[in-house]
Amino acid sequence: MTVETTEKKATQGSGVGNPLRILMDHEIRADPYPLLGKLREAGPTAVEDGSVVLFGEYDHCSRILRHRDLGSDTFAAPLIKDFVADNEDRAASSIFFMDPPGHGRQRKLVSKSFTPRIVKSFRPQITRIVDGLFEEFRGKGELDVVPDLAYPVSIGIIGDLFGIPDDERDMLKGWSDDLALSTELPSLGAALGVLNVFTRDEISRFGSVAMASHAYFADLIHRRRKNPGQDLVSSLLATESDGERLTRYEVTSVLATLFVAAHESTTNLISSGILALLRNQDQLTALRENPDVITNAVDETLRYDPPVHLAVRMARAETTIGGYDLKPGNIVVVLMAAGNRDPRAYADPDVFDVNRKITNVSLAFGAGAHFCIGSGLAKLEAEIAISAFAERLKNPEADESSLRYRRHTVVRGLDHLKVSFLP
Ligand code: HEM
Repeated sequence: MTVETTEKKATQGSGVGNPLRILMDHEIRADPYPLLGKLREAGPTAVEDGSVVLFGEYDHCSRILRHRDLGSDTFAAPLIKDFVADNEDRAASSIFFMDPPGHGRQRKLVSKSFTPRIVKSFRPQITRIVDGLFEEFRGKGELDVVPDLAYPVSIGIIGDLFGIPDDERDMLKGWSDDLALSTELPSLGAALGVLNVFTRDEISRFGSVAMASHAYFADLIHRRRKNPGQDLVSSLLATESDGERLTRYEVTSVLATLFVAAHESTTNLISSGILALLRNQDQLTALRENPDVITNAVDETLRYDPPVHLAVRMARAETTIGGYDLKPGNIVVVLMAAGNRDPRAYADPDVFDVNRKITNVSLAFGAGAHFCIGSGLAKLEAEIAISAFAERLKNPEADESSLRYRRHTVVRGLDHLKVSFLP
């Protein structure tokens, strides 16, 4: 890795206004990169009463994500701890918010279902879904990339992965947005030092959706116990490591977590890759002329416009990052989307270049102990969907006025992107 770093001394506990609130603004969500750039160049910045520190440099982000004393259990942050009554259960229920030793145990068991060989075996299924969708676009002259392409590919693969019968898949669609938004609560709440990140209505919706989805996944597990198949649920139930198995409760929460982790972010990757190609038509031409570039083009999308913009950690011990002295209990916000455009790590970072020689792996899938378990699957889905888009649609053009971003701040992505093409 060849990254220069700045060791700027931040104004510790300066208590400046929290710029993360601005990131949640709908107008900013369309292009948060100028603000993210400013935050990165400001160096480590303490906000709120100094208990929350923002980091945006590539090297700092990478070090934080790999740091053993910076934990993921943001449910333990004072504000969240007091708010979430069943804190213990909630923290124990999602691998995202777990720390050792529980984290390592669950991760080992879940990872067994995502080996490169298993991921590769999904190619025919993804291709079948994508082929079916492009068959429907034939002769139409326009499509909305998110609901017509990115979403069905992502939900179709989750459905296949979990072995969910076709007639039960629409239900998942309805839950997806709320489930994804609700997982932002412990991170955003801790980072903003407030609980009213969401409206009362939203919070009560999260509760009902969480209950309905958990009940559904518990029932699915029950069915697979009776009739095991080739799906992930059956393999999670059977997976054993060092004599350990996931309990039925753990499998339920793993399914809920995987559903959220896998679906929204992959939808975002496919749509942001297509948007970047449409806005940089020379890059679309480069991809058409050399289809093998697709792997690099997907990596470049993950760097340039990543589906997950930030992660949150909590300091468990005194530690210094980028010249900033963190105290136990400090909340650390890792702005991966800022680090991915750090000029110390990438030449011309604001340029989208499908042929870029990526020397520093982007922060898009995180790093260290919590590195994304589904990165291989997400990349394969994006490669197949974006290749088909580049190869099969003639003269595609984005309707910029149709662009809408979802409400999410952590997992940021498009809701609508209309494209016209020659039928
Ligand atoms: C483009 C798509 C995706 C992106 C950008 C993405 C990004 C991430 C990131 C940044 C993390 C680390 C979070 C942190 O450090 O706090 C993560 C973790 C995780 N991802 Fe993904 N993800 C994607 C797709 C998927 C898919 C398809 C799956 C599963 C099928 C998946 C499963 C997971 C799991 C289980 C974790 C938690 C790992 C742990 O805590 O040890 N992700 N992902």
